[in-house]
Amino acid sequence: MASKQKSGDAAARSSTRKSAASRVEPAKGKLGVMVVGMGAVATTMIAGVEAVRRGLAQPIGSLTQMGTVRLGKRTDNNSPKIKDFVPLAALDDLVFTGWDIFEDNVYEAAAHAEVLKSDTLAKLKPYLETIRPMPAVFDRYYVKRLNGTHVKKGKNKRDLAEQVIADIRAFKKTVDRVVMIWCGSTEIFMEPVAVHQSIAAFERGLEKSDIGIAPSQIYAYAALKEGVPFANGAPNLTVDIPAMIELSRQNAAPICGKDFKTGQTFMKTVLAPALKARMIGVKGWFSTNILGNRDGEVLDEPQSFKTKEESKLGSLEYIFQPELYPELYHDIYHKIRINYYPPRGDEKEAWDNIDIFGWLGYPMQLKINFLCRDSILAAPIALDLVLFLDLAKRTPELRSIGIQEWLSFYLKSPQTAAGLYPEHDLFIQSMKLKNTLRHIMGADLITHLGLEYYD
Ligand SMILES: NC(=O)c1ccc[n+]([C@@H]2O[C@H](COP(=O)([O-])OP(=O)(O)OC[C@H]3O[C@@H](n4cnc5c(N)ncnc54)[C@H](O)[C@@H]3O)[C@@H](O)[C@H]2O)c1
Repeated sequence: MASKQKSGDAAARSSTRKSAASRVEPAKGKLGVMVVGMGAVATTMIAGVEAVRRGLAQPIGSLTQMGTVRLGKRTDNNSPKIKDFVPLAALDDLVFTGWDIFEDNVYEAAAHAEVLKSDTLAKLKPYLETIRPMPAVFDRYYVKRLNGTHVKKGKNKRDLAEQVIADIRAFKKTVDRVVMIWCGSTEIFMEPVAVHQSIAAFERGLEKSDIGIAPSQIYAYAALKEGVPFANGAPNLTVDIPAMIELSRQNAAPICGKDFKTGQTFMKTVLAPALKARMIGVKGWFSTNILGNRDGEVLDEPQSFKTKEESKLGSLEYIFQPELYPELYHDIYHKIRINYYPPRGDEKEAWDNIDIFGWLGYPMQLKINFLCRDSILAAPIALDLVLFLDLAKRTPELRSIGIQEWLSFYLKSPQTAAGLYPEHDLFIQSMKLKNTLRHIMGADLITHLGLEYYD
């Protein structure tokens, strides 16, 4: 009887699996990737994809390309690659375009960014030269350190949004599906105001060129209006407002959080959960960085820095939950510094000093010195976000929910439903992501309970 029941359950599971899996539409044809801001991160991603396509390099750092997902019991030995388990667009099917305030083609912009070595770029030059940015929507009020001439002109912000919509429609004619990703600079710090509260208010604001609408929001509006998923690699407010969430749901255009989680915050969201899991107290966490790329130059300006600072500060507070553990995490002194130091270029160096305490309150210290390469860490994240947002768009259960919280794994500032605190712990985020993939494919979720091995 018990075994009949078991096989009945298994049959039911496998039929749910089939019907769920068949609901995810296949990734047929070309996926168009519209990149806003073709600087260090964007060009490193595009050049990297081309290098991988040509067999010149491995897609290291990309979960979609190298990661696996365990299915079933540990004893089943069934861990396919993610890209073989869910129907993702193949790298060969990606077609890139984008916008920038400078006219440089992607080869020139990559050479300027000095992330990839010149011999690598030389091999990719003929392809990279073919990608030329379209004129951008830009206003120095929102990024004070930059001044570009390759910009759109319009009588108001609505006119500019319509020009971006026209760009999207023209590109759509050449590909099968489209995703947009912001790899542009960090804008000044902005908070949600009246113009952000509904689609109607936002559209009135576009008409009046309301100061509360930043260029990143004009691109995002255009994308969501066209049903195109939108990812935000910068800490800008952009889609973190009711108008965009509404538009995303209405037009089945998935969105996710913001600001690529690359260096220091990546480490924070690994270490802080470890300290908390062992009930080790923390008195202070001092983080400083030096970097010398264009991003560093933009962040040297106080209003752009403030946007980044807010995004970086959030993680510890949520992970440590001081309201639950006042003896351990009450009043942590958390300080973040970013210093523009041109000699380093993209080769950022980050230091963390963490003052911790253990048994009976005895103090200890932890030091981290991360000599990283900013865009080398960010490029695979940008690629994965593009591929997963496209998957979300093809998944009926996901496409109309708006925020894709399962993509928090990649972002310093996860976005959540109203009233829900964000999960910053990298391992919870990773589990959530993989369980979402299992769920949409109709596979059993993995809880790590493991009692079945001891029956
Ligand atoms: N590299 C990382 O590790 C990392 C991590 C997290 C977040 N980010 C964020 O990603 C973004 C890109 O970083 P990056 O290192 O590539 O910077 P970058 O300065 O090299 O590139 C940004 C590009 O955006 C362009 N730009 C600015 N405003 C624009 C607009 N309105 N329209 C079109 N183009 C515009 C600039 O001209 C520039 O070419 C930054 O906001 C950065 O803070 C980067």
